[in-house]
Amino acid sequence: MRMYDVIMKKRNGEELSKAEIDYFIDGYTKGTIPDYQVSALMMAVFFRKMTEAETHYLTMAMAHSGEMLDLSAIHGIKVDKHSTGGVGDKTSLALTPMVAACGVPVAKMSGRGLGHTGGTIDKLESFPGFTTALTRERFIANVNRVGIAIMGQTADLAPADKKLYALRDVTATVDNMSLIASSIMSKKLAAGADAIVLDVKTGRGAFMRRQKDAVALAEEMVKIGKNAGKYTAAVVSDMNQPLGFAVGNALEVREAIDTLNGNGPADFVELCLTLGSRMLLAGRICENEKEAREKLQKVIDDKSALKKLAEFVEAQNGDASAVYNPDLLPKANIIEPVLSEYDGYISYIVCDEIGICSLILGGGRETKESEIDLSVGIILKKKVGDYVRKGETLAYIHANDREKAEAAKRRFLDAYFFSDRKPAKSKLIKTIIE
Ligand code: URA
Repeated sequence: MRMYDVIMKKRNGEELSKAEIDYFIDGYTKGTIPDYQVSALMMAVFFRKMTEAETHYLTMAMAHSGEMLDLSAIHGIKVDKHSTGGVGDKTSLALTPMVAACGVPVAKMSGRGLGHTGGTIDKLESFPGFTTALTRERFIANVNRVGIAIMGQTADLAPADKKLYALRDVTATVDNMSLIASSIMSKKLAAGADAIVLDVKTGRGAFMRRQKDAVALAEEMVKIGKNAGKYTAAVVSDMNQPLGFAVGNALEVREAIDTLNGNGPADFVELCLTLGSRMLLAGRICENEKEAREKLQKVIDDKSALKKLAEFVEAQNGDASAVYNPDLLPKANIIEPVLSEYDGYISYIVCDEIGICSLILGGGRETKESEIDLSVGIILKKKVGDYVRKGETLAYIHANDREKAEAAKRRFLDAYFFSDRKPAKSKLIKTIIE
């Protein structure tokens, strides 16, 4: 078999066989097929798409490209959660300690930022010393002892996805349904949890902009999970504006901590309760959604979820003092307001552009090798439906470089649209697929 022929076949819109998909995943993992040929194939997949069968073969090939974790040494039903990626999406930071504090073991694998979206691992690294490079033994021991562990993708876990993910990030080949479904589900299957709860984002800040595509992605992933014998549920949620108010690594950690202190933004809290109740139901510790939501609210109110976050950070070598004193998190030197140039209701936010503002400030990667600045980002003061007057503060830019701050500010202003009429409120939770 030759990689050239595989690229040509997909470029011409034909369906790849299982053998061809296994061949390219195996060769890419081993390094016998170079980045440039796989980039070409990814672009061909982007334009020509993949069938359900191809997506299934790709998922399985990537899941089996490394070790399949055996988590049977963890007591109870282990639950994992994954988001398809959004702007200001710090859900895992607050949600996983909430679920663990309720008594459901969370064994989660997380990723880094991708395209205009942030990643849980980058955010967690705002705690000095924090590591997600855990051995299998330590991962299992931490879940048993603390109730929660988050690991990054080790060299052994779905290594094909690890390479492809980094390549897609810098070759404009992220937003394809089959590539996203196989990327997420290969990791989830390899990571060994018993149940998987997915947060599939839709809207301008998501990889799947149209709700119809997000629902199709959710259905595809639920099907893959179920075929593999795992409880899998997907919540399709709105990403037409950033979630909460904070965008940027350490700023989002701070907002998650505020949430566990009972001061979370309404949309963010609602999403945590919706996803969390699915996780508690999957863990079979509740009879129904009402009971699950009450339990989750209780661990916020009595601060046991906040305490769980501190235990978890400490168990992964992080300095947990910032959980109780967020001023210890990385801070930017420049904090500048962005002032509205118009009067009116905010009718629309070009949400991915807000993610790009954070990238411009240094909060994301431009190339595979880029180092990120954890302290920078944006704190929104106004969101869709709010009325503002010219000169009022729309947001604060947190930066360490004046030129970048100016560039981000201009881009931010161009991403906000105004109207004389109050826009209709859009639903946060679009649908749930179980
Ligand atoms: N998250 C992933 O893990 N993979 C994707 O391709 C997109 C979002």
